[in-house]
Amino acid sequence: MRVPAIRFTGAGGVEVIALGEVDVREPGPGEVAVEIAAAGVNRADLLQRRGRYPAPPGAPPDVPGLEFSGTIAARGPRAGLWAEGAEVMGITGGGAMARRIVVHERELMPVPAGVELVAAAAIPEVFLTAWDAMILQAGLAAGEPVLIHAVASGVGTAAVQLARAVGARPLGTSRTASKLARVAGLADGDGLVTSDGTFAAAVHARTGGGAAVILDCVGAAYAEENLRALASRGRLVMIGTMGGATGPVPLGMLLGKRATIIGTVLRARPLEEKIALARRATAQLVPLFERGVLTPVIDRVLPMTACAEAHAHVEADASVGKVVLRWA
Ligand SMILES: NC(=O)c1ccc[n+]([C@@H]2O[C@H](COP(=O)([O-])OP(=O)(O)OC[C@H]3O[C@@H](n4cnc5c(N)ncnc54)[C@H](OP(=O)(O)O)[C@@H]3O)[C@@H](O)[C@H]2O)c1
Repeated sequence: MRVPAIRFTGAGGVEVIALGEVDVREPGPGEVAVEIAAAGVNRADLLQRRGRYPAPPGAPPDVPGLEFSGTIAARGPRAGLWAEGAEVMGITGGGAMARRIVVHERELMPVPAGVELVAAAAIPEVFLTAWDAMILQAGLAAGEPVLIHAVASGVGTAAVQLARAVGARPLGTSRTASKLARVAGLADGDGLVTSDGTFAAAVHARTGGGAAVILDCVGAAYAEENLRALASRGRLVMIGTMGGATGPVPLGMLLGKRATIIGTVLRARPLEEKIALARRATAQLVPLFERGVLTPVIDRVLPMTACAEAHAHVEADASVGKVVLRWA
């Protein structure tokens, strides 16, 4: 079936974003076709557009989109988890900015009751990333201080809520003071720090012993200061390299603090790992949205045809929370 889709016509600026069409196959065994209502914009889409982050095998090379919400449009043989018309959300390796996508049915999560279908597109990538990295992998526990960089970002606004949900003490940085004011309702205002590249002293002043966990999307520019900010036996979990991918790391401090550095990505994981995460999130995260403990933070919702405007807005570091593109 041929459906409308956002396509990259080459590598470059927003001028390579075009509305076109793509062929979508019928669902195979255990798969479903989802009619996409909306898709969240991610930094990875911007990198892919610039030719710096190719789609993984199996994902369309020129149709962006790592997360979506929509309704079940067709079921392949032996697919029985969802009824046609059921509202679902999920992550994918690419292709979510087409009107329809085919995925394994067990990769999907239900749209939480009380969350609008379009708003649900702001949930999967950032909440699964922050939850998996900070809580499942770094083992953030109740009472522990956690430092979240770019706290007003999509991932940051999810991480702050998840930290509070497990009883941890979130602290956050942003380079932009006005953004901190906009997320003050999510975190304890005292824990928010404007970062000019130095933040360790402020973290120690607020915590006593430093941060038990740091969720970092900046990378090289913050590497040394992160180790300074970390508590003894702290865990630094790296999810991005917006401030550089290579640079010096004070290994003596790593040893002395008996610290751990973890690196992680969602996109390149094999299907069985994505299914395991989606099933666990269905059991543990979806109810938290339904109880109002978690909520997607949305900067703006634009029509899919305004994809170039959305990219420019995110690329200018102007968003707080998620930018979502909707089809209808
Ligand atoms: N590992 C994974 O699986 C995974 C999954 C999803 C996202 N990510 C990563 O997580 C990060 C956040 O993604 P997102 O979608 O939440 O981003 P976003 O909403 O677009 O926000 C990113 C924010 O980061 C800050 N920033 C940008 N460049 C920076 C720099 N050089 N140093 C310090 N801060 C900088 C800016 O806010 P300020 O005004 O506060 O500086 C910017 O608005 C990205 O690096 C993304 O690639 C990783």
